[in-house]
Amino acid sequence: MTTHLQVLEGDITQFDVDAIVNAANTSLMGGGGVDGAIHRAAGPDLVRECMGLNGCKTGEAKITKGYKLKARHVIHTVGPVWHGGSNGEPELLRSCYANSLRLAAEHGLQSIAFPCISTGVYRFPPDHAAEMAVAAVRGFLSRPSTLETVIFCCFSAPDRERYETLLR
Ligand code: AR6
Repeated sequence: MTTHLQVLEGDITQFDVDAIVNAANTSLMGGGGVDGAIHRAAGPDLVRECMGLNGCKTGEAKITKGYKLKARHVIHTVGPVWHGGSNGEPELLRSCYANSLRLAAEHGLQSIAFPCISTGVYRFPPDHAAEMAVAAVRGFLSRPSTLETVIFCCFSAPDRERYETLLR
């Protein structure tokens, strides 16, 4: 079965998929950016469930329910803060995508949407981040899994164009 890779520009909190991925921090207690938007849209039950998860390490991922979101689940992953690129940032970002997909497949999920992890306040250069994201997703999908649709959710036209170029 082929998995469809899609690029969409928009607000990930509005996506009707099995899981949206959150670019969280290690506390999993919420924050700004896409993390703040997801917690606002999901409602306070999300942070309540997160409190029981004991945080999340950079590059790893944890799953919760989606509560008031259209998405059935949220996969919380913690991207690396960019400190110049020689502190393992690329490999950690790749792990965010791979571990999120692994968790989705373990839960039998068929559709997942990713934001551009680490490219906001964590300052990962967006071109490099998009290359890592596409390589990690393609690598994971080279083997069979439950996933049928993987969406790169871009919050700006330049991000959308970047991904469209990479997927062409
Ligand atoms: N839908 C889709 N993408 C979005 C949305 C949205 N509603 N809002 C922002 N983005 P960032 P990071 C994009 O800063 O760099 C938080 O405080 C945004 O344009 O949200 O991984 C956490 O708690 C950018 O392309 O995440 C952490 O402390 C991308 O999402 C920290 O920020 C990521 O930007 C994580 O930083």
